Amino acid sequence: MNSKILVTGANGQLGNELRRLCRTFPGLEFIFTDVDMLDITNPDAVSVFMEASKPAIVVNCAAFTHVDKAEDDVKTVRKINSLAPQVLAAACAMENAYLIHISTDYIFDGEKNEPYTEDDEPNPLSVYGSSKLEGEEKIKTVFDDYVIIRTSWMYSEYGSNFLRNIIAKGKENKQIEVVDDQVGSPTYARDLANCIIDIIIKSILNPMAYLPGTYHYSNQGNCSWAEFTEEIFRLKGIDCEVVKVTTDKYPTKAKRPKYSVLNTSKVRESFGIGIPNWRDSLKECISLLNG
Ligand SMILES: NC(=O)c1ccc[n+]([C@@H]2O[C@H](COP(=O)([O-])OP(=O)(O)OC[C@H]3O[C@@H](n4cnc5c(N)ncnc54)[C@H](OP(=O)(O)O)[C@@H]3O)[C@@H](O)[C@H]2O)c1
Repeated sequence: MNSKILVTGANGQLGNELRRLCRTFPGLEFIFTDVDMLDITNPDAVSVFMEASKPAIVVNCAAFTHVDKAEDDVKTVRKINSLAPQVLAAACAMENAYLIHISTDYIFDGEKNEPYTEDDEPNPLSVYGSSKLEGEEKIKTVFDDYVIIRTSWMYSEYGSNFLRNIIAKGKENKQIEVVDDQVGSPTYARDLANCIIDIIIKSILNPMAYLPGTYHYSNQGNCSWAEFTEEIFRLKGIDCEVVKVTTDKYPTKAKRPKYSVLNTSKVRESFGIGIPNWRDSLKECISLLNG
C-alpha cells in the first residue's frame, strides 16, 4: 500500500486538525482538498482526481454541518451528506482505496438513556441526521472497505463551533441561558484527528490492521450543553452566569436528541487507542485558543 492520503473538506474543523497533525508524519503524503479544489458532489471531478492522485486512503471530512440551516435546504444537504459519500465510495472501489468517513451521533433519537453502541437502531430527528445516516447507508451499498466513524459535539480552535460562539457570548453578557436537558460527549477535533492518523498508520504498516466497519468516537465522559458551558467559562475565567433551561425554552429549527452519548469501546479495542476525558481535552484546546 502506498502512503498517499486524500482529505476532502479539509478547510473545516477536522480537516484543519489533520493538516496540523500531518507535519508530524513526514512519511505520509497528504493531499488536502476542499470544495474549491475537489467538489465531492461532482462524480466526474471525483473520479478524475482519484485516478490522477491514486490515494491509498480517502478521509472524508466534507459535509453540510449547519444542523438548523439543513432543515431549509434538504436538496443541498442530501447532495453533500448522502449522495457524495456514495460517489467517494465508488471512486475508492474503482481505485482500490480505503474510505474513512465521518458521521454523527445525530443519527440517533436520544431515547436510549445509556451510551449508544454501533449496533443500536438509528432514528434521526433532523434533516442533518437523516442525511448523514443515508450517507452511511449509501457507502455500504458500494463496497465493504469503509471505516465510518460517528462522532459528537465537535469543537476546535478553528471555524465556527459551540466553544468559540459561547466564549464570545459569555464575554458580552453577564448571564446566558443554556439548555441542560440535552446530554452528549464533547469531542475535541484534534483527538479525533489523532485517532484517524493512528488508524491510517497502523493500516499502512499492516493492511490487516485496517478493520472495516462502523465505530463511535467521542471524548470520554458526558455533560449537558449547560455543564459544558460552565466548564468553558471556568477554564477561560469568564464571569458570566449560566442559567440552565430546558429545550422547550430554547426552540431550534432542527430537533436534537436529548441523549446522544456514544459507547466508544469498539474503536478503543479494535485499534488499541486511548481516548482522553472531555474535560482534559477542553482544557488543552482552550490553552491554544487566541483571545
Ligand atoms: N461539528 C460537529 O459538531 C460534528 C458532530 C458530529 C459529526 N460531525 C461530522 O464530522 C465531520 C467533520 O465536521 P467538521 O465540524 O470538521 O465540519 P466543517 O467544519 O463544517 O467542515 C466541513 C468542510 O466541508 C466543506 N464542504 C462542504 N461541501 C463540500 C463539497 N461539496 N465538497 C468538498 N468540501 C465540501 C466545507 O466547506 P464550506 O464551509 O465552504 O461549506 C467545510 O470546509 C462531518 O462529516 C460532520 O458531519 C461533526
